[in-house]
Amino acid sequence: MFNPESFIEEVKPQILKEVREEKILAAISGGVDSTTAAVLMYKILGKQLLPIMIDTGFLRKDEARKVKDMLKDILPLQVVGKSEEFISALEGISDAEEKRKKFRDLFYSTLSAIAKENGIKYLVQGTIAADWVETQGGIKTQHNVLVQLGINTEETWGFKVIEPLADLYKDEVRALARYLGLPKEISERQPFPGPGLLIRVVGKLTREKLEIEREVNDVVENELKDMGYSQYFSVIIDSQKSLDNIISMEANVPVYVYNTRATGVKGDVRSYGKIASIPLIDDYEKVREIVQKITKYDVTHVGMIINDKKDGKYSIGIRAVLTQDFMTADFAKIEISKLQEIGEKIMEINKEIKEVFYDVTSKPPATIEYE
Ligand code: XMP
Repeated sequence: MFNPESFIEEVKPQILKEVREEKILAAISGGVDSTTAAVLMYKILGKQLLPIMIDTGFLRKDEARKVKDMLKDILPLQVVGKSEEFISALEGISDAEEKRKKFRDLFYSTLSAIAKENGIKYLVQGTIAADWVETQGGIKTQHNVLVQLGINTEETWGFKVIEPLADLYKDEVRALARYLGLPKEISERQPFPGPGLLIRVVGKLTREKLEIEREVNDVVENELKDMGYSQYFSVIIDSQKSLDNIISMEANVPVYVYNTRATGVKGDVRSYGKIASIPLIDDYEKVREIVQKITKYDVTHVGMIINDKKDGKYSIGIRAVLTQDFMTADFAKIEISKLQEIGEKIMEINKEIKEVFYDVTSKPPATIEYE
């Protein structure tokens, strides 16, 4: 059993020995890991820590303000506005890995500049065990995994990285967060990826898609909060798709495949595959059987259409999963009437939304995110 008290007793002297009197930078993304890492360091090092949140433009609606508010009695967080820089650098890029790498480079060069301005030589980040296990395993380039990939951060960006949570799993991080007195809104907060909405605008990044995604995700989060799901969010993809006769025959329902691809896991490695759509079927056992047939082909995510109309450039996916460790996950069996209610609200957000689907794939063969 993980014991937060003995964990802190163990890491505290190591951190004090390494950092000494030096100042240290903490970058908070809005997720539980980076926030917990920063608060842990603040408890140990006090004013030596400079906690910041970079507004990359890919944060959720009002996120910077909300996080600052939630932490107001705990940590003196400074928000650094960089959204224009990030969005203009990433606009037009379609490839998922290219997006992640570019985001990572920009993220760390921004941190590097802040560190230099403040004479700081250390950076604390909330990397946890699953992050580097998956990155080393080739599942994805997690934006915050550097040292484990052999990147020399001192040479590249001028700071040493400290990762106090590197051996912990999610539930242990949450236990630590509770022990540190973080509010429930943070300790129980669903994970939010460092590159944020960037990886939920699947395929080509445009400002229009990003802004629609931000609004839609807000609706999905509000509608699904307090339902006990481990993670729930939306994605946006271009709506072009075509009927796949072979898969339709196998699955016994019309199966469409989109032009945009998404990540999945096959065996132990990451794979790119098609995103498919199936019609609405009000029976999750039957849906599961159909999905099994479809994912035998080159398909990583299957969406069940909840609402649709004739025209529109974009399709919205709703994702809600249940998981212990985020290495495997089950899609949540949300009542169809509830999904339709959410779908109707989403359709009203923008006239370019052609349809809303619910992702009915588990991990594996899908990943939780799409990129
Ligand atoms: P996947 O999509 O690989 O996601 O099944 C597993 C968990 O990791 C989160 N995730 C990330 N978190 N930086 C992060 O901090 C990232 O680049 C990143 N990519 C995925 C994802 O939200 C899920 O909880």
